[in-house]
Amino acid sequence: MKIGIVGSGAMGSGIAQVASTAGHEVILSDTREAALETSKNKLQKIMNRLIEKSRVEADEAQAIQGRIQYTTDNADMASCGLVIEAIVENLDVKKQVFKQLESIVSEDAMLASNTSSLSIASIAAACEHPERVLGIHFFNPAPLMKLVEIIPAIQSDPKVVETARQLINNWGKTTVLAKDTPGFIVNRVARPFYGEALRIYEEGIADFATIDWAMKDFGAFRMGPFQLMDYIGNDINFTVTETVFKAFWYDPRYKPAFTQKRLSEAGYLGRKTGKGYYDYSPEAMPPAHTGDTKLGIKIVNRVVAMLINEAADALYLNIASRDDIDLAMTRGVNYPKGLLQWADEIGIEECVARMDALYHEYLEDRYRCSPLLRRMARDGATFY
Ligand SMILES: NC(=O)c1ccc[n+]([C@@H]2O[C@H](COP(=O)([O-])OP(=O)(O)OC[C@H]3O[C@@H](n4cnc5c(N)ncnc54)[C@H](O)[C@@H]3O)[C@@H](O)[C@H]2O)c1
Repeated sequence: MKIGIVGSGAMGSGIAQVASTAGHEVILSDTREAALETSKNKLQKIMNRLIEKSRVEADEAQAIQGRIQYTTDNADMASCGLVIEAIVENLDVKKQVFKQLESIVSEDAMLASNTSSLSIASIAAACEHPERVLGIHFFNPAPLMKLVEIIPAIQSDPKVVETARQLINNWGKTTVLAKDTPGFIVNRVARPFYGEALRIYEEGIADFATIDWAMKDFGAFRMGPFQLMDYIGNDINFTVTETVFKAFWYDPRYKPAFTQKRLSEAGYLGRKTGKGYYDYSPEAMPPAHTGDTKLGIKIVNRVVAMLINEAADALYLNIASRDDIDLAMTRGVNYPKGLLQWADEIGIEECVARMDALYHEYLEDRYRCSPLLRRMARDGATFY
């Protein structure tokens, strides 16, 4: 099957590499000639690196590059069986592209969006045949991140969803099925990792370095929240948070933090600008953490309780299955273990107690315990 990819930015280029590596002919389009040129050069560099590391043979690398055709004309996608859109995150522009694509591809071609935050139903609604539309959400960088969220719109034909899921599985990815709701699985369940860490900082309980140290040393997370936000970029991370917050009709659980907003406004975006929560200039000394074990454990317990609560609530609201929620967090954002499995290990009653303690302290809706956890604690149930 020929694969079309619209938008040759960070995501489109990565997805093109994945599809071509899996043996597909790929048509990669962009409105900007310069973006196509950049994409082509980047792939060349990636392939050179893979050859140096003996991860691919030179002739295989050449074949991967050779299977991608670069174009500014989506009309070249006429014979594609699947087109994945990865353009600017703007609903009106995406709708226009889907409408145009439908006039180009054959009747049985599948159309997918890689959107992080828009509803798939609203994109599908632009089409005459919305049943062929679904969400296929890759993570950045697409060739390295194992997880792909598959999102059926309410209009999607289940056969289309299943075919697309099988295809992406064959590309060596782990797929999970997510309901068409803001943030899907990962960008919803992961919010407290950033949000609660920021809240702990804003309350003056601990500094960035201590929170990061605690989450890594006692929580076994690969990166601390502030390190990770600096890596992702504070502009991008703030936008995702703000988008999810608004999309949930201002649920205080997802409330963004002024600390991050100000960093973003100041241009302290993280690694890419040399300054974020941390200073990345060559002469900068990394700040020391306090080494206070008791405080460290308290921080981890609070953030993990919030994460578990979010995961439990996603299950409660049928956003995804138990297994897919745990897979999404271990494969999509490399959490040390699935949050629902973690809940079992901590004990459901203890999870409820931690949430209730926060709720009684603050009397904020942000800290409300998921009804599922409360019910499970009452019934002595476990997730596994
Ligand atoms: N960057 C991430 O971490 C990430 C992760 C998952 C999903 N996404 C989603 O993927 C999509 C693309 O994100 P990105 O980071 O690759 O963006 P990007 O800005 O790197 O690339 C977007 C590309 O689309 C092109 N484009 C814009 N309008 C177009 C049109 N009408 N037709 C063809 N090309 C057009 C632009 O020229 C640009 O090259 C967005 O919907 C985003 O939400 C991004």
